[in-house]
Amino acid sequence: MTNHLTIIKHPLIQHKLSLMRSKETPSSVFRHLLWETSMLLAYEITRDLPIVKTRLETPLCQMQAPFIEGKKLALISILRAGNGLLNGLLEVIPSARVGFVGLYRDEETLEPVEYYLKVPPQLDQRLVIAVDPMLATGNSSVAAIDRLKEEGAKDMRMLCLLAAPEGVARMREIHPEVPIFTAALDEKLNDQGYIVPGLGDAGDRMFGTC
Ligand code: URA
Repeated sequence: MTNHLTIIKHPLIQHKLSLMRSKETPSSVFRHLLWETSMLLAYEITRDLPIVKTRLETPLCQMQAPFIEGKKLALISILRAGNGLLNGLLEVIPSARVGFVGLYRDEETLEPVEYYLKVPPQLDQRLVIAVDPMLATGNSSVAAIDRLKEEGAKDMRMLCLLAAPEGVARMREIHPEVPIFTAALDEKLNDQGYIVPGLGDAGDRMFGTC
């Protein structure tokens, strides 16, 4: 049985995350760090992909070489901040299909409101990795995974950069079979639903809209 929560504590990831947390880090640098970090996170979230051996010839001899088995992957970005993780994942998994779930957070109720959905066909036959840098209340992630299940997804993982205990607990309650991968589990949420210590609003940090 896969762990429900995996915290990826690689020093390179932790270092880049600390730079992203700093309020002094400008958007251009933040975006670049997130892109680099998502490539590193991709290693861990794809660690157990099945491998098949296929015969090929090197310049020296024949061998049975390992390739990733034909497992179809779908990367689903939870807009807008999800795109920050998506770009790096696509660098290392270029053949993955891509989908988008558009949710914004109602600032009063903190509830997610859907405004866009476009996903690849045959989600039921794919490993679906939903990406959102911030797992805060868990409301958006739960709503996005609900919609992906309605679209047929069965085998799912959630990738984020930072998680709050409240978001992890909510995901565990509603979608216990969806493993979560994150670079850090922070202390708590504040009254506005921000992760503390966190890094602020990930979308604003990426796009300079703060
Ligand atoms: N979304 C963000 O971008 N940041 C938080 O701290 C919480 C939700």
